[in-house]
Amino acid sequence: MYSLLLSFFVASRILISQASPLPFIFDRAVNDTTSLAPTPQNVQRQLGPLLAKGASLYFPGTPQFQDATSRWSTYKAPNIAVVVEPGSAKDVATAVSFANKFGIPYLAMNKGHGSTTTLGAIKNGIEIHVRSLNSITINADGKSASIGGGSYNQELINKLWSNGKASASGSCACVGLMGAGLGGGLGRYQGFYGLISDNLIDVDIVLASGETVTVSEKSNSDLWWGLRGAGHNFGIVTRFTMKIFDSPAQNWYFAQFVFTQDKLEKMVGLVNTMMDNGNQPKELMNYYLYAWNPAISTTEPVVIFTIYYIGTKEQAAKYTKPYFDLGPVFHNDSMVAYPELASATGLGDEDFSCAHGFNRVQYPVGLLNYNVSNTRAVYNLFKEQTVAVPALNLSTVVFEGYSLQGVKAVPAASTAYPHREDNILASILAVYAPNPALDSVAIPWARKVRDLMHSGQPGRQLNAYVNYAFGDETQEMVYGYEPWRLERLRGLKKKYDPKGKFNFYEPIKV
Ligand SMILES: Cc1cc2nc3c(=O)[nH]c(=O)nc-3n(C[C@H](O)[C@H](O)[C@H](O)COP(=O)(O)OP(=O)(O)OC[C@H]3O[C@@H](n4cnc5c(N)ncnc54)[C@H](O)[C@@H]3O)c2cc1C
Ligand SMILES: *[C@@H]1O[C@H](CO)[C@@H](O)[C@H](O)[C@H]1NC(C)=O
Ligand SMILES: *[C@@H]1O[C@H](CO)[C@@H](O)[C@H](O)[C@H]1NC(C)=O
Ligand SMILES: *[C@@H]1O[C@H](CO)[C@@H](O)[C@H](O)[C@H]1NC(C)=O
Ligand SMILES: *[C@@H]1O[C@H](CO)[C@@H](O)[C@H](O)[C@H]1NC(C)=O
Repeated sequence: MYSLLLSFFVASRILISQASPLPFIFDRAVNDTTSLAPTPQNVQRQLGPLLAKGASLYFPGTPQFQDATSRWSTYKAPNIAVVVEPGSAKDVATAVSFANKFGIPYLAMNKGHGSTTTLGAIKNGIEIHVRSLNSITINADGKSASIGGGSYNQELINKLWSNGKASASGSCACVGLMGAGLGGGLGRYQGFYGLISDNLIDVDIVLASGETVTVSEKSNSDLWWGLRGAGHNFGIVTRFTMKIFDSPAQNWYFAQFVFTQDKLEKMVGLVNTMMDNGNQPKELMNYYLYAWNPAISTTEPVVIFTIYYIGTKEQAAKYTKPYFDLGPVFHNDSMVAYPELASATGLGDEDFSCAHGFNRVQYPVGLLNYNVSNTRAVYNLFKEQTVAVPALNLSTVVFEGYSLQGVKAVPAASTAYPHREDNILASILAVYAPNPALDSVAIPWARKVRDLMHSGQPGRQLNAYVNYAFGDETQEMVYGYEPWRLERLRGLKKKYDPKGKFNFYEPIKV
């Protein structure tokens, strides 16, 4: 049964391999034009000679370009004319200055999971593919690591684990550390360490001016506040230092259950008790979703519920027992080395959740706890639409219930991340093969599901995590309702990005 379960997630996987750097590609006749459009000719001639050895430029029509621009969500994807693969951190600054000089728009990209529709605003742009800046060095004190701006979760997890260390990272294996961290960065170690951004010590960033600065508590301290929650707005991170810790456990326990929908109310009641309004033990977290799984049912979506525990099966038993007793149609529980945990629970590099090439329309909302009747209503709306339009049956509704002590320990006003009061991150992901005819069905439906989830907590404002936002939310939903937050962010935007060069990812409107 389990292999069937997994094969569902893996079915549509598209392997994206990392292009190996090539020398400049002279694949077209050079035309002696004076135009400064980002054509291969112009960029090769003018930018190419300025870049370090080991840098590459990729142009449309090559497999390297295709790999470097491939995206998790193809809906409103950025329109890219040229990819710059930096050979050094300095190349990032060089590319920014070049693009500024010729008025060409540019965008940092790492692992390609950014899905906000605001990304669609870039046309004929230069992609600065920071993925090549991916080194990770554990510093001699064993308390920090120096990490390239193009590193991603699984790389960091592997490196730390093999040195007996741990730190915050995202929970899906495939996600870029800075893409997530500049917006906060939630994950399984947050009960211990807080968000990714809470663990930053200093950050080297190329600003819109082309200047490279270090940002920390002591250096550019105004930007230090804004980088941690609204950071995509201010520049391109080439390297950062992050706190690391002695690992509390090399192996983790997980228990994954599949329930039929008739168990939903009871299960959600158990989760509410277990989460205790955000006071669950820092070792204990859960993640659950609605999804179709034909191995279990072809007539209704199932509920897939996972408990993670930083410790042993025996220690976790008092939390997991009620779910075993509830009668899942399937379960698997196991101790695994931490680097294997994501893939053991369907969130690995090779799993469908990380696969590129689909339209993925996401709408988030932060919650305090589960409203049982609302949860049922959301399930019903999910089922209704995916039955009516089977092409949407790869969609999911996801509830992320990580432990919270580390997040709540950081004073809310001390960073630009505005949602420390939320206990659960709920989101709808409408997933379908690219098909413009479906957009007008999927998008209003996804928004309706989000609104319904929000209506389950009367009187609470709608909090939309910047890294899951669709792009039509208000500035307050994304960056916080306290007026001083947006005022401060607007001030930083005017100072550090006055021309709005970094306006493609949930831009702060000044
Ligand atoms: C399958 C999946 C799982 C996820 N899981 C989590 C999770 O557990 N926790 C969480 O917090 N979020 C999670 N997210 C959301 C994630 O944080 C965002 O999608 C994030 O933007 C992805 O970064 P990326 O490098 O993978 O994607 P990219 O599209 O390459 O980057 C997204 C944006 O980040 C900016 N950016 C990236 N790198 C840099 C850099 N070095 N300097 C400056 N700007 C940069 C750019 O504006 C870029 O457009 C998940 C998303 C997906 C698709
Ligand atoms: C060069 O570009 C110009 C303008 O686009 C075009 O008219 C001309 O034919 C091109 N020449 C060559 C040799 O391709
Ligand atoms: C349960 O998960 C573990 C870890 O991924 C895996 O090795 C094992 O085969 C799974 N067991 C079943 C019964 O599917
Ligand atoms: C999902 O929809 C596809 C058609 O788009 C269909 O072939 C498949 O059987 C459906 N799966 C389930 C579980 O209903
Ligand atoms: C639960 O959600 C419904 C909307 O689905 C709402 O009407 C109701 O007031 C909510 N109950 C509580 C206790 O918040």
